[in-house]
Amino acid sequence: MPSAFFHPFGNPAQPEEELINLVRAEGSTVWDDQGKAYIDGLASLWLCQIGHGRRDMVDAITTQMESLITYNTFPPFTNDVAARAADAVAEVSPMPEGRVFFGCSGSEAIDTALKIARLVQQRRGNHDKQIIIKRTRGYHGTNYGGTSAQGIAPNREGWGDLVPHFLEVPADDLEAMASIFVDQGDKVAAVLTEPLQGAGGVFQPPDGYLQGLRRLCDDNDALLIHDEVINGFGRTGEWFGSQTYGVVPDLITFAKGVTSGYMPVSGVIIGRPVADELEAQNEMVRTGYTYSGHPSCMAAVLKNIEIIREEGLVQRANHIGEQISGALAALRADGAIEGYDGRAGVWGVELGDREATPVRDRMLELGVIARPVYSRLAICPPLVITDEEIGQMMDVMAQALEDTA
Ligand SMILES: Cc1ncc(COP(=O)(O)O)c(C=O)c1O
Repeated sequence: MPSAFFHPFGNPAQPEEELINLVRAEGSTVWDDQGKAYIDGLASLWLCQIGHGRRDMVDAITTQMESLITYNTFPPFTNDVAARAADAVAEVSPMPEGRVFFGCSGSEAIDTALKIARLVQQRRGNHDKQIIIKRTRGYHGTNYGGTSAQGIAPNREGWGDLVPHFLEVPADDLEAMASIFVDQGDKVAAVLTEPLQGAGGVFQPPDGYLQGLRRLCDDNDALLIHDEVINGFGRTGEWFGSQTYGVVPDLITFAKGVTSGYMPVSGVIIGRPVADELEAQNEMVRTGYTYSGHPSCMAAVLKNIEIIREEGLVQRANHIGEQISGALAALRADGAIEGYDGRAGVWGVELGDREATPVRDRMLELGVIARPVYSRLAICPPLVITDEEIGQMMDVMAQALEDTA
């Protein structure tokens, strides 16, 4: 009897027995039901900054659960832990004076940010400003807004009509972006981009690119939205990618690393200028979720930020980056890979005309988890990974490249 479980991004015909059944995780290692250990080279799915299986996180969450496990935060209700979590997120962000909305998934954060961007334009009286410009290779989740914003074409296909007024430009082409503003600047509500593009294969922005987007948005009364669902919480060597690349947007979406995945939390940081507008309007913003500000989840946010800070994991990400880039430079010098891009705790390895899936499969056999994206292999380990584990991970990659050549 097949299991009822319908997997995300899965083929419903695939038998459950073909999948790797994970039963335990600790630090940067996960174990399957056969007792086999894997180095988690992807931090689950780009998210487990503080490592797996931490008793201090379990304690923080269960302590909260002993008083108030769950309650909604629709007015007239609130809870202190949500207020403190919002302050903690704002404090480490490039918008410390901003406001913080909470959801559960990156997809919820994206859809909320898109709605806020359009709402702001509507309330400014810019009724024609509805276009959202997005980049190829961008991944922005799978709700209808995020699906419409996808820069990975196959993820947009087959769902019927998507949300209107989304325009896509080639990922690194600032001129293409500028020409949309020349033609239709009076209709652009916002530009949506990841600072470092993650799920699309790991690509840093070209020098000056994000600054160029900021200028175009400023000149055309459009909002700049940074999707930091992967970038945020130390992954790119600063708390947020916006800080790494030196550009302050109007809205930031976050998820994943905000709790290292211990509880499902996401959100939108609303910069002070936009927050000022919304506060001055003194009017309800009719969006939000049953679990926005869920107290048990908020306890995980607070503890996770505390751990990242106390253990210096943002700085540690830069150290990890030096180790990984050193190994990748050697692989490229040997001709084993075509190139690589990335920063700190997130890297994409370009295999040229080779598919990455067979290499990933061989790495799994050898006990390391990585993620194939067409001809690229992504790695994004927990920020607590040891130097020895990085060495093992990169040795396994080298071996798998050789075995599958
Ligand atoms: C940049 C980015 N935005 C949004 C999402 C969607 O997040 P979720 O899967 O939690 O809905 C992801 C997920 O990988 C992401 O990488």
